[in-house]
Formats: sequence, structure tokens, C-alpha cells
Amino acid sequence: MPEEIFIEKFKEIFAHYPRYFIRAPGRVNLIGEHTDYNEGFVLPIAIERGISYLVSPRDDDRVCLFSFNFSEYDEFSLSDIQRSKKGWSNYVRGVAKFLVEKTGGLRGLNALIYGDLPIGAGLSSSAAMEVGAALSFQAVNAFQIDKKELGLICQRAENEFVGMRCGIMDQFASLLSEEGMALFLDCRTLETKNIPLPRGHLIAICDSKVRRELVSSEYNKRRQECETAAKILVVKSLRDATPEMLDREKLGETVYKRAKHVVEENLRVLQAIEALQKGNVALFGELMKASHISLRDLYEVSCRELDILVDIALSVQGVLGARLTGAGFGGCTVNLLKEDSRNTFEQTIKKNYKEATGFETEIWFTHPAQGGFIISLGK
Ligand code: GLA
Repeated sequence: MPEEIFIEKFKEIFAHYPRYFIRAPGRVNLIGEHTDYNEGFVLPIAIERGISYLVSPRDDDRVCLFSFNFSEYDEFSLSDIQRSKKGWSNYVRGVAKFLVEKTGGLRGLNALIYGDLPIGAGLSSSAAMEVGAALSFQAVNAFQIDKKELGLICQRAENEFVGMRCGIMDQFASLLSEEGMALFLDCRTLETKNIPLPRGHLIAICDSKVRRELVSSEYNKRRQECETAAKILVVKSLRDATPEMLDREKLGETVYKRAKHVVEENLRVLQAIEALQKGNVALFGELMKASHISLRDLYEVSCRELDILVDIALSVQGVLGARLTGAGFGGCTVNLLKEDSRNTFEQTIKKNYKEATGFETEIWFTHPAQGGFIISLGK
């Protein structure tokens, strides 16, 4: 439920009480990195941090937004949606544009947007903004669009309006996750399955505090290399390639390494699901470790600070696995540990990471959270 201070802020800006509270969580990916745009497998969870919207319907077609975090106001008309200089607003605008296209017309809304998700840390603040926007429009318009289609519309907003060629993982994780469960997603068929996580364990997210401008350009370069690999191997996407098909000479060194990562990472996700279903947490941890090594050496999306975070984590007793999560080049690591190792983990990481890099890390412990939802505030 929304805290009183946000309701007060909403009332101060819009001079009435909000009608809906919408929550869209961030996500952390447990395994299956850089596989989604290759039509492969991923296993993210929604996290307890996210973006919230307080919303009320309008009688016209205007969308009036206030970002609490940026302390900025923005407004646009649903009949003429242009890009804004205010970056945060473009996520809402992009979603609105494709929702109008899909539904034929929407009524406007007032919204106060606030969140506790660090921006640019690789925890999908963009996807949470989009999912929050989609659910806000759904709340005030009551249209019937299922969650998967909403997720695709959010992805389209990011790809075509914001201009980032991301895959589908983040939007689906923010929309479709269930509390206590990881979300297994087949990015080709878009079939999903909820997989319970083992009891007595925690997921920890450690922020390297490294933010790199090159994420988007390097990300697009990796996508391109994967497409090249698929073309040379004459498959629709790397999802269809097997380890035996990977010919170093035919592909060339760089493309070979990228393809090898994707093909093996897909296999790791399938093994990881089996490990969870059999209660083999140790194997799950080993697969996380292998994923990191592959992202570091084959896909080359790690950096010194992420490697240091992983190494420190793995030196702590009770830590089963650690790896970089998200696109890479900075951002966060994801760690699986026994619940009773929490304090040692926190102290060791903070101290040793500071000593090694000079950066103060931030650590969040999380259980798998509920995907996006709407609550009617009944006023
Ligand atoms: C980013 C993208 C996702 C996915 C990951 C890498 O988070 O938004 O679609 O490709 O990188 O796994």
C-alpha cells in the first residue's frame, strides 16, 4: 500500500485523492544472460524494489505526470505523442503511443511516479517504468489486454520509442513474476513457468557502483555478433545452434566466443531448472559461477569491479553462487547464499570491496517478489 507522504504529494499536485496504486518491481536475473534476444531461456525474479504510480483518471486525453525522484513535471496529449527531453517521461510516452495504437484511443490520467530502484544499476528501472505506465493506463481504461501482450508493448516502447534494443526478459519479469518464485521464460514461445526457490536461502544483489556509458553500444554490438553467428550457421537464431555446430574457423574467433556463450548458457538454464526441481541448490550455484566465467571470458561483458565482487562473494562460507547480472559492464552481481550467512556476507563484501576498489557497495537482500499489480484505493 502507498505511504501517506506520497498520497499527500499527489494531493498537493493534482488537488484530489489518487484512485489507484500501481506497483511494478525491478528484476534480477538468476541465470540466462544475453540469451533473451537469441530466443533462448532466462530465469529472473522480481525484486522487492521497484517503481510505484499513484494514478487518477482524467476526462480528457492529457497525461499529467510528476516524478517524485526527479522532482519534475511533464505533460502530453495522447493524440500527439512526441519524445520529451525529460528521459523518465519517454518510458510513459512510448507505452502510451503503442497502447493508443492497439486500443484505438485512451483516456488520460494524472500520475505521481516514485521508486526505490537505483537507476542504471542493471535492475531494470526502465522496464519497471514501462510496466507501471502500462498498468496505470489499464487501471483507468479497463481494457482487456493480457499480461504477455502488455509486456510486448512495453518492450516495443523501449525498442522503438526510447531506442534501446533490449530483449523481452525485463518487462516479462516485472509483469509476470509470482512471489516466492523464479520465472522461467522461453523467449521464443513466450511460455512461462514459475519455479519455487529453495527455502533457507537468500538472493543478494551487490551494486558495483560502476556505471558505463558504453552499455548500450556494446550491447548492440553483441546482438549484431549473435545475428552474424546465426547467419553463418544457417539457423533462425542461436537458440537453434548446438555445441557441435560451433566451428571456430567458420565463425571467426570473436563471433565463435559469443555464440559459444549463448549456446552453453541456454543449456545451463535448463540444467539450473532441473537442479531447482530436484532441490540441488549446490549445482544451481555451480551453474551461476560457470555463467559468470563465460560472461567474463567469452561474451566479454564483465569488468574488473564485477569480477572482484564475485570473487569476494565466493570466498564467504555459505555462498553457493555469484555472477554478474543484466547487461554487464558495471551494475550489479547476483548471489545465492544460505540465510544464516547473511551477516558475514554483508560485512566481508563491504570491507573487501572498498579495500580493493575504493567504492562503497550497496547490498540488497531480496526474496522473489510479486510482479506488477494494481490496487484500487476506493475513493
Ligand atoms: C538487459 C536487457 C535484457 C537482456 C539483458 C542481458 O537487461 O534489457 O533484455 O538482454 O540485458 O541478459
